[in-house]
Amino acid sequence: MVGHIAFSPVTISDGSVGWFGLGPVSVVPEYQRRGIGSALIREGIERLKALGAQGCCLVGHREYYPRFGFKNVAGLSHAGVPAEVFFALSFGGRMPQGAVEFHEGFGAKG
Ligand SMILES: CC(C)(COP(=O)(O)OP(=O)(O)OC[C@H]1O[C@@H](n2cnc3c(N)ncnc32)[C@H](O)[C@@H]1OP(=O)(O)O)[C@@H](O)C(=O)NCCC(=O)NCCS
Repeated sequence: MVGHIAFSPVTISDGSVGWFGLGPVSVVPEYQRRGIGSALIREGIERLKALGAQGCCLVGHREYYPRFGFKNVAGLSHAGVPAEVFFALSFGGRMPQGAVEFHEGFGAKG
């Protein structure tokens, strides 16, 4: 295995449905910077669209995700995360507004 990506459903306080969170995504260090991470993200987005998803959001590096169309969206946030590292990509419909929560499996509860 040289890399992996995961998506999971998120909840949004405005009741929007069909949104997913991207992450984690990783590529084995020796294989980084060869386009594998980009391929995982692009293919993942296409598969989400094929499933009828409405959009995708994530917490991630500011330099990396805009190239895939992800944007910082005023009014869409994730608690405890600076606005500049929270990104969303709508697949054509409206952009949600409110607070996004990832699946509780991603929580860091002691
Ligand atoms: C982020 C990651 C998945 C990218 O995978 P990759 O196969 O190297 O990505 P690609 O080859 O498609 O793209 C390389 C680009 O990613 C950028 N990049 C890689 N790691 C980066 C980082 N930590 N911060 C900013 N940009 C990063 C590089 O600048 C490069 O851009 P360039 O082509 O303009 O130079 C990989 O670097 C990784 O596994 N990092 C450690 C885990 C991680 O941070 N995951 C993301 C949060 S869950």
